[in-house]
Amino acid sequence: MASEINQYERDLSGEEISKGLHRAFVGGMWDEIGRLQLDHLLRLGLKPHMRLIDIGCGCLRGGIHLVRHLDPGNYFGLDSNRSLLDAGYSQEITVRNLRNRLPKSNLLHDKNFRVDRFGVNFEFALAFSLFTHLPLNHIKLCLVKLAACMVPRGKFLATFFESPPNHDWTRSRTQNPGGVVTWPDQDPYHYKMSDLNWCIQDQPWRLERLENQDHPRGQIFILFSLAS
Ligand SMILES: C[S@@+](CC[C@H](N)C(=O)[O-])C[C@H]1O[C@@H](n2cnc3c(N)ncnc32)[C@H](O)[C@@H]1O
Repeated sequence: MASEINQYERDLSGEEISKGLHRAFVGGMWDEIGRLQLDHLLRLGLKPHMRLIDIGCGCLRGGIHLVRHLDPGNYFGLDSNRSLLDAGYSQEITVRNLRNRLPKSNLLHDKNFRVDRFGVNFEFALAFSLFTHLPLNHIKLCLVKLAACMVPRGKFLATFFESPPNHDWTRSRTQNPGGVVTWPDQDPYHYKMSDLNWCIQDQPWRLERLENQDHPRGQIFILFSLAS
């Protein structure tokens, strides 16, 4: 078995980034899935004056929309892959003339979910197509670290691949729509809702499966909320 946790441990070369391959590396459907992230957050009440942390922000597929929507300086991104952060800033942010809305220090290279390194608290958090690539204990670590850096009643929107009640979790599953094959023990992972509830059982988070499910590759939208 490979020692990598997921494919994102590989840095893209400068040549790959100049060819725009970073967009496919994070899953493609650049415009549609980027915009989808903003749409879901707007529905949940994201306002320009709020601070948002995008965990596993990659090369800012959703970030470019969020940087435009939020007041300057209110978007924060964290990712374990430095080359994707660089591609996001030097290509995607720059060509859209958005540098004045995103201080480079708001993008952090970190693989241990140390969101406290920003030194601020967040009203909103996002993890889009991140849990699909993480073992369950990493998801729990992410939730524990994040809870300490959210304001009271903070909201955390995430996506994951579900092993629904009628599915044997030990077997692979072909997700619909999209046809992605997911696994109990390798990337891309699927989980039961009860697995995610286990992650927060000793945490201040409340978890709900959202009603509006429109991910084109069958990922499920979930919302973690803090009571106070
Ligand atoms: C499918 S990409 C999604 C990127 C972005 N959210 C988007 O929608 O385009 C998954 C991202 O998670 C990042 N990632 C994987 N493990 C991570 C970790 N432990 N901490 C932070 N980021 C991680 C990868 O580097 C990659 O950028």
